[in-house]
Amino acid sequence: MSDSTEPGGYFVANYPPFSRWQTAAVPEVLAAFAAPPTDAALGLYLHVPFCRKRCKFCYFRVYTETTAADVERYSQGLAAEAALVAGQPAVAGRTVRYVYFGGGTPSFLSARQLERLVAGLRSSLGWDAAEEVTFECEPGTLSEPKVRTLRDLGMTRISLGVENFDDTILEANGRAHLSAEILRAWDWITAAGFPSTNVDLIAGMLGETFESWQRTVEQTLSLGADSITIYQLELPLNTVFVHDARTSGTATPVADWPTKRAWVDWAFDRAIAAGYSVSSGYTLVRDPARVQFRYRDMLWEGSDLLALGVASFGHLSGLHYQNATHWDEYLGAVEGGRLPVQRGLRPTGRELLVREMVLGLKRGWLDTERLHGKYGIDPLAAWAPVWVGLEAEGFLDQLRPRPHLSRKGLLTVDALLHRFFEAERLAAAS
Ligand SMILES: C[S@@+](CC[C@H](N)C(=O)[O-])C[C@H]1O[C@@H](n2cnc3c(N)ncnc32)[C@H](O)[C@@H]1O
Ligand code: SF4
Repeated sequence: MSDSTEPGGYFVANYPPFSRWQTAAVPEVLAAFAAPPTDAALGLYLHVPFCRKRCKFCYFRVYTETTAADVERYSQGLAAEAALVAGQPAVAGRTVRYVYFGGGTPSFLSARQLERLVAGLRSSLGWDAAEEVTFECEPGTLSEPKVRTLRDLGMTRISLGVENFDDTILEANGRAHLSAEILRAWDWITAAGFPSTNVDLIAGMLGETFESWQRTVEQTLSLGADSITIYQLELPLNTVFVHDARTSGTATPVADWPTKRAWVDWAFDRAIAAGYSVSSGYTLVRDPARVQFRYRDMLWEGSDLLALGVASFGHLSGLHYQNATHWDEYLGAVEGGRLPVQRGLRPTGRELLVREMVLGLKRGWLDTERLHGKYGIDPLAAWAPVWVGLEAEGFLDQLRPRPHLSRKGLLTVDALLHRFFEAERLAAAS
């Protein structure tokens, strides 16, 4: 991998890669919905694709020119999809263990729109027994009454997209909010008393220097969030930055990977000194015994995930699937009473093991005995040369009995995971 931040994806979100998911697998996904369930845990992800502005680094499916009528139609679409899904034999009667309102910007919706959305969803697909209900917010979309509504609606974990505290940097990267809105929103969030709070930062935004990064980290620590998530800026091909660079013929001058890693390394040290613990390659938690990540941990260990909304990614009975990626197709399907599944993939048992390994390793360690028991394959033996290489390059603190990544390994984790991607490696070599 080159040191400079080239256009292209970095973050590993799933395995096998999305490029292998096929339309031809849709009948199999629909058959899985129509069949009895497995005994996996069940989660729910809802994609809310609205934002006030498109951040120049963002690669998610979002819409910015939206009317109240669009929001209403989409919310009704989500409720219709929830009803369709809840009636399927693979879902009916099951307990939803965790919920994630992601986006886009779920907090783009007004308090009244949110109340209607939640009521519409709950009329068919309830989550009374959920252990965690996460809700993503962009600071400038919040108001005090909206934050109280989120608490009243049962959100247990608020995740705030802070990204940076420097107003020049926020503006240069196309964020819709400034630092004053972060501080204002944070006061409302703490006053409302959510069981858990998270703040997102990005290391290496356009215009970042080590000094500005240090100030952002210090200000973030002073908020005292239960967890802090730090991403390293990547430049996927569908971002405004990459588009602008191609049009102008000049590269976007963002920090290179070693610099971003050094900045995250510094942030980890500062957070540890302030009482946080490292909980993954991106996450710091204040009280590991109290702060859990049900969404992350259950999903990474192979739970089912019902994906609602345009372009959402789900997993059911051993199959990956994704919903229609465009507004008209998605709404056309759910309004016509059809599940909006657009593509899918049935991974082999070995591929599911690789998925659990690569997602699990993002936490920094792997319970290889559990995986051996679950899949009948010993990850240490089956990928012995990969482990030896990682150890020799200083990416591991220990290999046995369980592999533990070193700090260097954690900070580079997404670049290391491809070593376990078997089929892709073999295909590239042939
Ligand atoms: C859906 S957004 C969070 C909620 C809300 N939309 C916001 O931005 O405030 C998810 C997070 O992804 C991260 N993110 C988005 N694009 C990124 C990129 N190109 N590189 C690294 N992180 C990125 C940001 O930290 C962002 O907070
Ligand atoms: S980072 Fe958040 S606010 Fe910005 S465009 Fe992406 S989803 Fe919207």
